[in-house]
Amino acid sequence: MSARGHRHRGGWQLNLKLIIVLGLVMVVGVMLFLNLMFVGMNTTPASAQQLAKSPNLRSNHRRILVLIANYRDTLRCSETLDSIFTNAAYPERVAVSLFDQLYLYEGEVRCFDAYCDNVGEENCKRSERLRHNATIDADDATGPTYGRYQTEEGIDLKIDTFTLAIDSHTLFIKDWDTELLRQWDSIGNPKAIITVYPDATTSMTPENAPRARVTLMCHAKIETEDGDSMVQYSASITVPAPATPRLMSQFAGGFNFGTAESALAVRNDPHTPYMFHGEEYSKAARLFTHGYDMYIPTRDIVFHWYEPRKVIWEKDWGARWIIQQKSKRRVRKILGLSTTSEEYFDQDMEKFSLGTKRTMAQFIKFSGIDPAAPYDNGNDYQFDNCHELEYVPYDD
Ligand SMILES: *[C@@H]1O[C@H](CO)[C@@H](O)[C@H](O)[C@H]1NC(C)=O
Repeated sequence: MSARGHRHRGGWQLNLKLIIVLGLVMVVGVMLFLNLMFVGMNTTPASAQQLAKSPNLRSNHRRILVLIANYRDTLRCSETLDSIFTNAAYPERVAVSLFDQLYLYEGEVRCFDAYCDNVGEENCKRSERLRHNATIDADDATGPTYGRYQTEEGIDLKIDTFTLAIDSHTLFIKDWDTELLRQWDSIGNPKAIITVYPDATTSMTPENAPRARVTLMCHAKIETEDGDSMVQYSASITVPAPATPRLMSQFAGGFNFGTAESALAVRNDPHTPYMFHGEEYSKAARLFTHGYDMYIPTRDIVFHWYEPRKVIWEKDWGARWIIQQKSKRRVRKILGLSTTSEEYFDQDMEKFSLGTKRTMAQFIKFSGIDPAAPYDNGNDYQFDNCHELEYVPYDD
């Protein structure tokens, strides 16, 4: 009895020791875990918790609004619409917001009308798919920023979860919508923007097989010699396709995907008429300082038609160039850079300003581009930021 009691006590003592040791291991484990979590919190988006709190961003009924500004490009634009709806896995969750800039008196047709002419009024599902299609005369068009701003007018946060801004001459891979959402989800950052200069339509693979390499934007230059110069991005390079979307410091106007909220938080600036280069760099600076992050897709989602096309710069260039200088100075003012004169478009500056989550100095470091650097004779490799980038944390 006593022996048994003793043995029991002994067993109990042994168990007690085991419990203490296990307890210590657990305490150390929890401390290690917390430690790792805090380290993790410093290197992954602070807003990742927001993602968990936004069921809308994870639901099965997330809708995508595709934003397209069409400048006298209706033939390609209607093909683009066909490519969007034919290749979407869930076309019923996709709609388009269009802005047509046409010589109507020459009989140029609106993008969606041409699409309906091609596939039939029944099949184009106008009432479901066409959210918005403002139209102006091409003579009154003032460039991509104004055009894209107009497409954003179609965004409805009560309906749209995501927006995808593209050029009017773009082809899509099969199931592009589910692929894009899968990639976006894999980032785990609600402020992620998937963007890049797409590869050429001639690079499309049969059956849309993923390719071993994808495009990355990482070179830039100071565009001109004058004191109001813009930053101009250079051509993209190719890199091995990453396993998850890779962080990038540049932004492509012709292909970018993010929450509908992001498209309204950092809008294209319509007060920059005839602006071309500099538009993407300033949008990148504004997005980054508002806490957004750009990533390249792990595989091509769209392809771009590289071919001669109509542009607003084909006309009245003398008069339009003078106006463009005021746009460039506006952009420089917004970015906190010097200007050669105080003549600039100053409407609603605060609406299109930098954000407060990160500083412009942080963006200059992150992007590897010094916007105040001197002109380097048009050297496309003046700035090189092709190394792997690190997420820049901020307080939410
Ligand atoms: C598209 O444009 C036409 C012509 O301006 C207009 O009548 C129609 O209401 C527009 N549709 C939408 C959904 O914006």
